[in-house]
Amino acid sequence: MRTSLLFAIFLAPFAVADEPKAKPAKPRYVMKKTHDPNGIGKFYLDREIAQVMGYQGAGWLERPEREKEENPKKLIDALGLKAGMVVADVGAGSGFHAFRMAPLVGDKGKILAVDIQQEMLDLIAARAKKEKVGNVEPVLGTDKDPKLPDGTVDLILMVDVYHEFEFPYEMTEKMVAALKPGGRMAFVEFREEDPEVPIKLVHKMSERQVIKEMAEFPALEHTKTVKTLPWQHIVIFTRKAEKK
Ligand SMILES: C[S@@+](CC[C@H](N)C(=O)[O-])C[C@H]1O[C@@H](n2cnc3c(N)ncnc32)[C@H](O)[C@@H]1O
Repeated sequence: MRTSLLFAIFLAPFAVADEPKAKPAKPRYVMKKTHDPNGIGKFYLDREIAQVMGYQGAGWLERPEREKEENPKKLIDALGLKAGMVVADVGAGSGFHAFRMAPLVGDKGKILAVDIQQEMLDLIAARAKKEKVGNVEPVLGTDKDPKLPDGTVDLILMVDVYHEFEFPYEMTEKMVAALKPGGRMAFVEFREEDPEVPIKLVHKMSERQVIKEMAEFPALEHTKTVKTLPWQHIVIFTRKAEKK
């Protein structure tokens, strides 16, 4: 009896020491003092997040050279839009792509033009009124939530936007939830791989980096990368159908 008690007292500290210690969780975002002047000093999966383009730059989004630099018709043709589709243009800006897509989804479909700057949405609302376009709906999102209803969207388009998200993980989580099973997410980013593309570094993204960041979301599958645009690539992911 005395021996077993002594044995238990002797072993107790070792038993505690053997328990595996929980590893401290790695922070999702890392702040660095030394960073690119066009970035915000916040890093996600080794990429610096870019500064948001202010609404004062809306005129630049409508510049005529964009036709040649980005070939928006080719971009939109590559998306395979059909009448009746619900498309979210997340980070819609002045609506440069939203108004090009609206006739393709027709009256039975709609374009949800999401932005975090009310001034951008005001420009979209004014243009929709002026041009009598009834299927472009402005949606005010937040930096963590595009405010799209779950399971309702066929395609989410982000042109020159994702690299500016201050909370890319939280935004993507909500966007994945908003997709219908089989719905797609298209990232249109200036090609970082190509030094000839004359865009500031933090405003470019490589295909590899987009795929790395989307690997955080097992519901998404990389299905295609379109490389035929002058300066950008379109990296497309599909939401897998739920297993029954
Ligand atoms: C460079 S502009 C591109 C606008 C448009 N896609 C185009 O190509 O003309 C980026 C836009 O993304 C918006 N944005 C940034 N973060 C956002 C977020 N978390 N949710 C929605 N929009 C966001 C900005 O307000 C800005 O209007």
